[in-house]
Amino acid sequence: MAGGVVATGGGTHHEGKITLFVIVTCIVAAMGGLLFGYDLGITGGVTSMDQFLLKFFPNVYIQMKDQSGVHHQSQYCKFDNPLLTLFTSSLYLAALVASFFASSITRIMGRKISMFIGGIFFLIGSLLDAFAVNVAMLIIGRLLLGFGVGFCNQSVPLYLSEMAPPKIRGALNIGFQLMITIGILIANLINYKLAKIKNGWRFSLGIGAVPAIILCLGAIFLDDTPNSMIERGKQEKARKMLQRIRGIDNVDEEFQELVNASEEAKKVDNAWKNIIEAKYRPQLVFCSLIPFFQQFTGINVIMFYAPVLFQTLGFGSNASLMSAVITGGVNVVATIISIFSVDRFGRRILFLEGGIQMLLCQIAVGAMIAKEFGVSGVGSFSNGEVNLLLFFICAYVASFAWSWGPLGWLVPSEICSLEIRSAGQAINVSVNMLFTFIIGQVFLMMLCHLKFGLFFFFGGFVVIMTIFIAFFLPETKNVPIEEMNSVWRSHWFWARFIPQDMVNSHAHLEDL
Ligand code: BGC
Repeated sequence: MAGGVVATGGGTHHEGKITLFVIVTCIVAAMGGLLFGYDLGITGGVTSMDQFLLKFFPNVYIQMKDQSGVHHQSQYCKFDNPLLTLFTSSLYLAALVASFFASSITRIMGRKISMFIGGIFFLIGSLLDAFAVNVAMLIIGRLLLGFGVGFCNQSVPLYLSEMAPPKIRGALNIGFQLMITIGILIANLINYKLAKIKNGWRFSLGIGAVPAIILCLGAIFLDDTPNSMIERGKQEKARKMLQRIRGIDNVDEEFQELVNASEEAKKVDNAWKNIIEAKYRPQLVFCSLIPFFQQFTGINVIMFYAPVLFQTLGFGSNASLMSAVITGGVNVVATIISIFSVDRFGRRILFLEGGIQMLLCQIAVGAMIAKEFGVSGVGSFSNGEVNLLLFFICAYVASFAWSWGPLGWLVPSEICSLEIRSAGQAINVSVNMLFTFIIGQVFLMMLCHLKFGLFFFFGGFVVIMTIFIAFFLPETKNVPIEEMNSVWRSHWFWARFIPQDMVNSHAHLEDL
C-alpha cells in the first residue's frame, strides 16, 4: 500500500541516470512494502495452526476440533472469538494512530529518521510475537508492528518518490503495492512450510525481523532526500545530494524546482482548511470514499482469513494453507498485470471490469456455500466443488488486484494538487486503516451471523462502488496533475463545484 505522498503525473523530465543510489533506495523501499505485506499475510496461517491455537486460544481450538456439536455445530462460527480477531486487526488500529505522528516526524525530522523508527518498531514487534508467552505479549507485539506500518507507509513511499528520477516516479507507486503482495505471498509460503514444524508459528512471526533489520540498516546508512534537506534549510547539502543521486553535475534546473516546490509548500500552511473548500469537493469525496470502498470489496477477508476460511469450508489444515499460497500468487501476478495496463487502458476500465468480475465471483461463492452449508452451517464440499470454489476465489482476488488494490492508492494520490495533498493523503490512509481494522475485527463474527450471506453483503457494496465509479470518476490516465481541474470542470457532476478561473491557473504543482 503506497500510503505516503507520491506525486504522479506532471513533473518536468530532467536528466539523470538510474544510479546505484536509486537502486539501493528501491531495495530499502522494497523492505517497507514487504514488511507490511508480510505482517498482513502471516496471521491467517498462524491462526489456523493447532499449536498456536492451543497455546493462546484453547477455546477456539476445542470448537474447531469438536465434531460432536456440543460447542458449535455451525462451521460458520468455529473461529468466532474477539481476542483472536484482535490479534489480527490491532495492527491497523495502531497504524492509524501512528500515522498522525508519523507525518509530522517525517516532515520535521526527515524521511530517514521516520523509516528508522518504523524499522525499530517492526523489529521489536516481530521479536515480541516470536517469543510471546501470553496473549497480551502477542497483541502488544502486533500493536508495535502497527506503529511500524504507520511510520513506514508515511515515509517510505515519500522517500522513494523523492529519490527516484521523475520519469520512474509513477511506476514506483504501484511498485510499492507489488512489494506488499509479494510480502503476503512470502508469508503464505512460510506458513505453508512451517505449519508442520513444532512451534512453527514462532518462526513465522519472527522471520519478519529480517527485513526489519535491513530496513533499519538502510535507514542508518542512507542519506535523506534532497527535498527533505531543503525543507529543513540545508540547501548546500541538498544540492550535493542531488548531484550524487542523479550521477550528474548539472542539476540546477531540478534543484531550483525543488526549492520552488518547497517555498510553495510553506505557503500552503493549512491543507486541512483548503480541502474542505467547495472547489476541492471531488478530491475530498474520492479521498474518503475510495479507501472505504476498497475495504468493502471484502478483500481482507481473503488476505487475513483465507486459511481459516478454507478450513471452515472443509479443506484440511494443509490444503487450506496451500490454497492461501495459490491466492497469494494470483494476487502478485494480477498486480503486475495492473502495472502494465493502468496507463494503457485507463483507470475506469480497470475499476469497472474489476467490479463486475468481483461481483460475479462473490455471487458464485455465496451460492455454492449456501447450497452445501445452508443456514445450519453443517455440510461439506466434494473435491470437484472445492476446486471450483478455489477457482472463483482466485478470479476474485485477481480482479481486486488489477483494480481496487493498486488504484485505491494511485487515484487519490494523483488527483490531489499540492495545496491539499498532505490532507488528502492523510484522509486516504486513515480511512483505509480504520476500515481495515473494522473488517478484520468483525469478519469472523459477521460470518457467524450472516453465514453465506456475508458474500452477498460484500457483493452489494461492490455494486454500489462500481456504479459510483461509472458515474462519478472521470478518467485520469495521462492527465498531468496541473491539468486536473479542467477534467473536473468538464465532468457532468463535478463541474458545479469548480470555478471557471481555476481551470487555467497553474498552481505551481511541481512534485513535492
Ligand atoms: C489494500 C490492503 C490489501 C492488499 C491486498 C491493498 O491495496 O489496501 O488492505 O490487503 O491490497 O493485496
